Amino acid sequence: MHDQATALRKMAIQKNPAHKGSLRVIAVTSGKGGVGKTNFTVNIALALIDMGYRVIILDGDLGLANVDIACGVTPHFTLEHLLSGEKTIEEILVYGPKGLGILPGGSGVQDLANIERANLENVIRNLGRLEGLTDILIIDTGAGLGHTVTNFLKAADDIILLTTPEPTALTDAYGMLKALSSDDPEDPEDPEDKKIKVNVVVNRVAQETDARLTFERLENAVHKFLHGSVSLLGWVYEDPSVGKAIMNQEPLAIAYPTSSAYRCIQWIAGSVSGLYLAPPRKAAGIRGFLTQLLRR
Ligand SMILES: Nc1ncnc2c1ncn2[C@@H]1O[C@H](COP(=O)(O)OP(=O)(O)O)[C@@H](O)[C@H]1O
Ligand SMILES: [Mg+2]
Repeated sequence: MHDQATALRKMAIQKNPAHKGSLRVIAVTSGKGGVGKTNFTVNIALALIDMGYRVIILDGDLGLANVDIACGVTPHFTLEHLLSGEKTIEEILVYGPKGLGILPGGSGVQDLANIERANLENVIRNLGRLEGLTDILIIDTGAGLGHTVTNFLKAADDIILLTTPEPTALTDAYGMLKALSSDDPEDPEDPEDKKIKVNVVVNRVAQETDARLTFERLENAVHKFLHGSVSLLGWVYEDPSVGKAIMNQEPLAIAYPTSSAYRCIQWIAGSVSGLYLAPPRKAAGIRGFLTQLLRR
């Protein structure tokens, strides 16, 4: 029954002209670490798969190979092997639950923004094949204000900024928005660059009002001090199932599909699916993403 519904949704997506051609690149980020990015990324990916999309995560969290641990898979190669020409995209991709694709970044993520000319063509050819392998590429950017992170964010079609209601997380989220809106001079050829739209998710809230208050604080600061715009994409409740799932190296979507946290993430996936039907900011798929990334 479930499989049939999934198959029907897949057909609907394939028939929908909005899905033709380019894949959508979504970057998930936060000001500081530990706010729940990796958990959110893995589970929204699984929720989107249940809706009929093919999804691959690019694990850009340096050092800690978070995404594969959360999914209980062991990759052998990373983006570094692709950049050096030793491996193809198909050889570094690993598959987790529900057919979720995982591209382990390793230190290759940092290098992606600075590929040498000699390797460029090979890398673009390999990453270009992602277009045929997935509908949505979600990048778990890792935290912090490094140039790699902001470059990824600016090149992506959609940005999801995760924060918790904690003042420190909020301050760092604001810092991230500030870096995004001031980091780069405006590009006259790309008027949309001037106004980067950021979708905010408030994680670990006790109730809806916590999420709304947290978002209002961020929004007020943005309106006072920055250009750009933020919108509240959704919130996720504080839920002990999240910690339990992580301990067992099994995604929440599999271990506790009826938990309140996962139901929030499913609801957000619905909105993200709506974003998919809106015109993307760059509209140029993986090649557009790479062009943007390399131009920075
Ligand atoms: N909604 C939530 N409810 C309870 N605990 C959460 C929730 N989201 C995240 N956590 C906890 O926060 C910790 C950090 O999550 P993680 O996804 O690794 O963060 P990040 O990738 O941002 O560093 C996890 O160990 C998890 O137990
Ligand atoms: Mg992480």
